[in-house]
Amino acid sequence: MSDRAPWVYIEDIGRHDGQSVTLKGWLYNKRSSGKLHFLMVRDGTGILQCVVFKKDVPEDQFTIADHLPQESSLIVTGTVRKDERAPLGYELGVTNLEVVHSAEDYPITPKEHGIAFLLDHRHLWVRSARQHAVLRIRAEVVRACREYFDQRGFVLFDSPILTPAACEGTTTLFETPYFDDKAYLTQSGQLYLEAGALAFGKVYCFGPTFRAEKSKTRRHLMEFWMVEPEVAFLDLAGDMDLAEDFVAAIVERVLTTRRRELAVLERDVAVLERVRKPFPRITYADALALLRERGFSLEWGADFGAEEETAIATSFDRPVLVHRYPIECKAFYMKADPADPRVALCVDMLAPEGYGEIIGGGQREDDYATLQAKIRQHHLPEEAFGWYLDLRRYGSVPHAGFGMGIERVVTWLCGLPHLRETIPFPRMLERLRP
Ligand code: 4AD
Ligand code: MG
Repeated sequence: MSDRAPWVYIEDIGRHDGQSVTLKGWLYNKRSSGKLHFLMVRDGTGILQCVVFKKDVPEDQFTIADHLPQESSLIVTGTVRKDERAPLGYELGVTNLEVVHSAEDYPITPKEHGIAFLLDHRHLWVRSARQHAVLRIRAEVVRACREYFDQRGFVLFDSPILTPAACEGTTTLFETPYFDDKAYLTQSGQLYLEAGALAFGKVYCFGPTFRAEKSKTRRHLMEFWMVEPEVAFLDLAGDMDLAEDFVAAIVERVLTTRRRELAVLERDVAVLERVRKPFPRITYADALALLRERGFSLEWGADFGAEEETAIATSFDRPVLVHRYPIECKAFYMKADPADPRVALCVDMLAPEGYGEIIGGGQREDDYATLQAKIRQHHLPEEAFGWYLDLRRYGSVPHAGFGMGIERVVTWLCGLPHLRETIPFPRMLERLRP
């Protein structure tokens, strides 16, 4: 096997013009015309047309190529040559073809399939070109998030997955036995991150979070990934500056490095190019007035649902920051606005085009007695929050942060109707498999 031409990846094919190379991959698609077989070979980095010409390969190989089933695994050797019509600008003139494994009756064919069928076959669906585009954009978003915080002096501070208490309300907790005790899968790393902020000044965490959301929507998963920064001595205004700068940086990165994937998805990039600082900032009260103008009949104090969020977001050409919601709408840890204690020092960022909330965050209650009263008022188990209250006993400071849901952002950037394709294996109300 050592006499094979060097193994290269399709994404690097342009560097090997005129050379003999070896590709290792799978048969994506195929068409034939008498003396020629056109094998579309994918290797995870791209798809390349490999042309098998009868006189260039041993006879048995030509016959094999004719009957090769979709998704069979292959090792193909040939000469790289320019081809203006090919998507990558190159094709491979095959000189040798080895079949590693012949696939039988691959269930996902080039024809249209229903979404339930595709989700049942998610383990195979992730091989398709559109899914590649979405998941590569996801990977880029994750990389951009990490780099953003790493380059600005934030310390990665991993929060636990198994937790003794709720962070975001007790109605969406996943409970699991924990020896003689019980534990809950984390809904957010925030509370632990607050301890980190008081230790390191600026921290972030990034990991899976869990919500037993008993509703079927286009925007909810049971398991999703969230990136959360937390900063000591930061107030709500500073938190909004950070969120705005962060999202603008992520969008810019994806526009710079993932143009090809956005094109595969036929995403209108003009709308993403408008996502530049500053983003509009409106209060909950402003948003309520805007909604009433548009015919919504909402009383002060009502939370916004998907319809309201869409109506607010479509009034702007870039993400909008809605701050100071009624305190009753929000979690126990939110700090009340000293200027108007009916509202919380919180912020939601709503994506344009009706993609809904992508960020939730705000300034945290930093006074011991007030926080203790809030924990009681929310009927939370006080003993589980002793450590959290401690943070208000030893050098308490104003601090703020936010959480951004990766799948929500990827759904928006890719322009998808539903967030289920933005994670390799989505966990939804009626889907735990595969
Ligand atoms: O607004 P949420 O609930 O805020 C928090 O969890 C805070 N503790 C974060 C913080 O301040 N550190 O969730 C934050 C974000 C939402 O804006 C949304 O993007 C995403 O997490 N999210 C979900 N994404 C997918 N499926 C779900 N069920 C989600 N719930 C929230
Ligand atoms: Mg929220």
